[in-house]
Amino acid sequence: MAKTAKKKRAAKRVKKKAAVAQRAAKHAASRVPGRSAKPATKKVKAPRKAAAKARSMAAAERRAERAARRKVRAATPRKPAVKVTAAAANGLPNPSGKPFGQAGKALDGVKILDFTHVQSGPTCTQLLGYMGADCIKVERPGVGDITRGQLRDVKGQDSLYFTMLNGNKRSITIDSKHPKGKEILERLIKHCDVLVENFAPGALDRMGLTWEYIHKTNPRMIVASVKGFGPGPYEDCKVYENVAQCAGGAASTTGFRDGPPLVTGAQIGDSGTGLHLAFGIVCALYQRNRTGRGQKVLCAMQDGVLNLARVKLRDQQRLTHGPLTEYSQYGEGIPFGKAVPRAGNDSGGGQPGWILKCKGWEDDPDAYIYFITQAPVWGPICDLIGKPEWKTDPDYATPPARLPRLRHIFNTIEEWTKTMTKFEVMDTCNKHDIPVGPILSMKEIAEEQSLRDTGTVVEVDHPGRGKYLTVGNPVKMSDSITEVKRSPLLGEHTEEILTKVLGYSAEEVAGIKTSGAITAPEKPAKAEAA
Ligand code: COA
Repeated sequence: MAKTAKKKRAAKRVKKKAAVAQRAAKHAASRVPGRSAKPATKKVKAPRKAAAKARSMAAAERRAERAARRKVRAATPRKPAVKVTAAAANGLPNPSGKPFGQAGKALDGVKILDFTHVQSGPTCTQLLGYMGADCIKVERPGVGDITRGQLRDVKGQDSLYFTMLNGNKRSITIDSKHPKGKEILERLIKHCDVLVENFAPGALDRMGLTWEYIHKTNPRMIVASVKGFGPGPYEDCKVYENVAQCAGGAASTTGFRDGPPLVTGAQIGDSGTGLHLAFGIVCALYQRNRTGRGQKVLCAMQDGVLNLARVKLRDQQRLTHGPLTEYSQYGEGIPFGKAVPRAGNDSGGGQPGWILKCKGWEDDPDAYIYFITQAPVWGPICDLIGKPEWKTDPDYATPPARLPRLRHIFNTIEEWTKTMTKFEVMDTCNKHDIPVGPILSMKEIAEEQSLRDTGTVVEVDHPGRGKYLTVGNPVKMSDSITEVKRSPLLGEHTEEILTKVLGYSAEEVAGIKTSGAITAPEKPAKAEAA
């Protein structure tokens, strides 16, 4: 009996201790972590038993407090131990140990179904080819890209128009409207990463190659297009270079104030848009690494030109706040209209500049130099041209004072530049950090050794036409070295692609050949034609 009562009392004590510990734990958990949870205890003289009880309670409290702190620590997210290794960075592999330039090319492994023609699309795919992508150019049997025969300089051979835009590609001929041709294209769509095209609006759909079909056939495929205009009133129009230059705002702002709008020699509509498209494709490839799916990439030529002419849209908005003081018409007191005017050879950057004659200008149409009267080097300019007094003359000493006198100033500088060749002017001015630009003719550029040395101008050999110059990769990369290869002959790689890339057997290839899907249609017999 006594034993049972004793047991009951002990159980009661344990229960009480547990309750105390629980309360203490609750109390500690509500405290700011790290701050001592020791309760302020009043020191009182207690009998031995009471003191022992107090000690054991304090110990229980401390245990509970430690447990609570552990709980708080466990609940607080910890900073991961930072171990910076190349392998850990964004899941990238370890840095290659190979010497720079020997680890392949930037776009190695990327397969392009190149459905481009004329200039804008081919510019894009040639750049991707320079970066290492495998460009499989699909051309119409017997015809090919229309530029093969345009502006021909060597009889019967592919023109420079074609060869200079289609290096680093393979050519396969396929009639995309032939049933067998469609079957081959389906295999190519499954095989490739990107389809690039610049057909007239709707042409790809008419071939049956709609986005829905392509995306279903290969959800990873990126479909990249150049069109003249984006969605809107002109979306169905066919567009060439100069149409885009005019519609993109370049022509209205190019030329002399008193003359008609001018187009520029640089192909900002075609090659410029091809460059934009290449950028879009590379971005889509990068995004695909994350999403696993392809997307449509569209570059309208009007948009591409406007992007390159954006400083003129800047000036259009500035015009609402006052005249454009860096345009020479301001200095000449000619009022501005409602739209940005043509600025002749004025510099677009706010520092007055003009094209000036150099020695030999009477016979050489390119004996000119672009001269910028940049404010920080006004002193050295005055000394060089023999007008040191202009440095302090209030009519010339400051940029605002010079604005109404720019024509006189440039005429005076021209008297000096006419005494030297454009290269002598360049050498003399560069010694004083005066920015000038010799007007280089295409002959001079073709012969310029430094451009050959950097691979910007490259000579390649062609089995039909012999050696020709082309423009290499204007983008230089230290670990992706461009090797410029000649353009392919029409259908040069048809069999190679059918067998080695698409896996057709020799018998199947023979069947495809007789089907008419990869060969030019037979010319009708004379009797029939008549
Ligand atoms: N097999 C069968 N048919 C093919 C083919 C192939 N391999 N390749 C092209 N074709 C067909 C097309 O399907 C199209 O036929 P369709 O109109 O009956 O459907 C036809 O060839 C002509 O294509 P298209 O693009 O209309 O050529 P085009 O010479 O009439 O027009 C452009 C040329 C450049 C004006 C036009 O393609 C265009 O506006 N492109 C977009 C903007 C652009 O890139 N412009 C700059 C060019 S540098």
